[in-house]
Amino acid sequence: MSGIGLELGDVGETLLIPLYARACDASSPRPVLGDRRAGELLDAIDYDFSRFRGSSLSGSVFRSSIFDGWVARFLREHPGGTVVELGTGLNTRFDRLDNGTVHWFDLDLPDAIALRRRFFSDSDRCRMIAGSASHTDWFDKVAASPPPYLFVSEAVLIYLDDAAVRRVLTQLCSRFSGSLIAFDTAGKRMIANQDRNRSLAQVSARLQWVCDNPHDIERWGPELLDTRTLATPQPEIAKTWPPQRRYGMSLLAHLAPPIVNTYKFNLFKLATP
Ligand SMILES: C[S@@+](CC[C@H](N)C(=O)[O-])C[C@H]1O[C@@H](n2cnc3c(N)ncnc32)[C@H](O)[C@@H]1O
Repeated sequence: MSGIGLELGDVGETLLIPLYARACDASSPRPVLGDRRAGELLDAIDYDFSRFRGSSLSGSVFRSSIFDGWVARFLREHPGGTVVELGTGLNTRFDRLDNGTVHWFDLDLPDAIALRRRFFSDSDRCRMIAGSASHTDWFDKVAASPPPYLFVSEAVLIYLDDAAVRRVLTQLCSRFSGSLIAFDTAGKRMIANQDRNRSLAQVSARLQWVCDNPHDIERWGPELLDTRTLATPQPEIAKTWPPQRRYGMSLLAHLAPPIVNTYKFNLFKLATP
């Protein structure tokens, strides 16, 4: 499978950043996610990943571990429920967290799913969907899978504009009211500084959706259950991080709160307003 070329659109290319971050993590002396599959995928893809190298790259690994924490808790409470990754890219969360009974969908745009299919296959409990998070044509497939549902959209909605995010969330609220959804929000500061972020500066897709306060989203329906930053992971997740990272982020949050607080990870319950 060596030397797979890429036919990804602008936003599709962004999936290579967290993939590279996970591969670097897996080869580090003290991995957080330990996603060895990411390294195999990286070796098979013909692309200069080193351009993403930079101090902010590891942030996406720590972000993923916070999302993993919410998914793991959902699976403890609902071992046979359904998880839907919206904008999955080449994520391996199913492989990381599969409990043997969960049902799972990995949805992404057709270009990303075509690439994903080079490496992953559908199984009884884990299926791919080529589609858009902003469309509803895949809703029936998900609704036919056992409830309850947890939607996860990591580093995806921030690339959409405000109207598109609102559409995604209100559509999900009307069909899947009572379900959970986890996604990240980027404040003005992060959007304004994205060109200074070494990894983000390498791709043409731009972060668009500005959200400084996740509570503002509640006016569209979803109810905020939990919000975290890289300085405030769930306690059980913090234990899996290297101490210097934990203390470093806490110190940064203390000395320069706007830098840390501009990027938030949020868990909502879908509800109609
Ligand atoms: C930064 S990548 C994140 C990938 C993955 N969530 C991860 O953390 O590894 C953004 C992903 O969002 C997908 N995406 C962007 N817009 C989308 C949409 N409207 N519907 C579904 N996926 C979308 C892209 O194709 C890409 O795979």
